Amino acid sequence: SEKMRVAIVEGDGIGREVIPAAVEVLDVFGLPIEKVPLELGYGKWEKCGIAIDDNDLDVLKSCDCVLFGAITTPPDPNYKSVLLTIRKELDMYANIRPIKPLPGVTGVIGRSDFDFVIVRENTEGMYSSIEEFHEDVSYTKRVVSRKGSERIARTACKIAKERHNDLTIVHKSNVLKSDNMFLNTCREVAESENVGHRDMLVDAMAYSLMTYPERYDVVVTTNLFGDILSDMSAALVGSLGLAPSANIGDKYAFFEPVHGSGPDIAGKGIANPIAAILSMKMMLEWMGRQKEADIVEEAVGRCITENITTPDLGGAASTIEVGRAIANHVREMLDG
Ligand code: NAD
Ligand code: IPM
Ligand code: MN
Repeated sequence: SEKMRVAIVEGDGIGREVIPAAVEVLDVFGLPIEKVPLELGYGKWEKCGIAIDDNDLDVLKSCDCVLFGAITTPPDPNYKSVLLTIRKELDMYANIRPIKPLPGVTGVIGRSDFDFVIVRENTEGMYSSIEEFHEDVSYTKRVVSRKGSERIARTACKIAKERHNDLTIVHKSNVLKSDNMFLNTCREVAESENVGHRDMLVDAMAYSLMTYPERYDVVVTTNLFGDILSDMSAALVGSLGLAPSANIGDKYAFFEPVHGSGPDIAGKGIANPIAAILSMKMMLEWMGRQKEADIVEEAVGRCITENITTPDLGGAASTIEVGRAIANHVREMLDG
């Protein structure tokens, strides 16, 4: 069969450390994959005054999917986020963020009896980029469209049907009237798809996720709420360095850890590569390689159980050591 083309974008900061670890694990499988390295981000912006150009977008579009690290946002008010540009240009409207415990790790509330997925709308809401800046006041226009709400609701319902058929619609329609569109559309879609559903206001949801995370299956929400709830939920698992994500559209897919470029730990070789490795695992699933994806997940579990962990999980291992240990477990499982 033909080779899959996978763009490899390390980006900035710890992106340059965790992506090589994820690629090392991927390489063990020897799959028919053509890796297409691409430099984007702050580093490129410092060198060339541009963080992403049309040619880069063409390269991304020529690939089947993208494995992405993280990019540092420069302190320049005129800078347009690379990540947002890519999500919009490739119309990857669904940001899927599974929140699942790993063996031997308990997060901030010391529990491991939950398993839910945040389905975050990824192209509109507070991320419309429709903004105005004046001397004394600035505006950001929050956009909630029927089409945008409907397609994210459909994605969430599809995922719910593969799981426990239980959808929680998270919104703030008591204050943001634009969320009535989101809430009503999600309800209609859930009804028509026969998916069990309820809704929650986002503030109460933040509390509830930290208190009763076992209650939730699939959580669908608008862009900024999903951004915030996903970092918070990573604390339930045990580290921001453990949370993977997939950005999915009808044509393209893009896999990246939930975390950013970690400027406070960049260059020290101690970033946890597991979020990136599990993002690569989501990429394998998207490619239809469920067997390989399961092996990666099992290898990650074994590595943590052996206490080969980075400092965020209380260990003393380096990014490279964790990546290598996981790669070795994959190799053993393939050989045995
Ligand atoms: P961050 O996610 O980079 O870091 C938050 C905290 O979590 C830091 O203390 C960091 O050390 C820790 N952390 C993150 N990933 C970790 C890992 N793999 N292992 C261990 N610890 C980890 O968020 P921030 O500091 O607010 O943002 C830094 C930069 O990254 C900003 O410029 C932001 O805009 C950007 N950012 C980019 C992306 C992306 O490109 N996908 C995502 C989020 C933030
Ligand atoms: C994320 C990040 C991005 C977002 C930033 C870097 C634009 O925080 O992927 O969660 O807000 O979506
Ligand atoms: Mn975020």
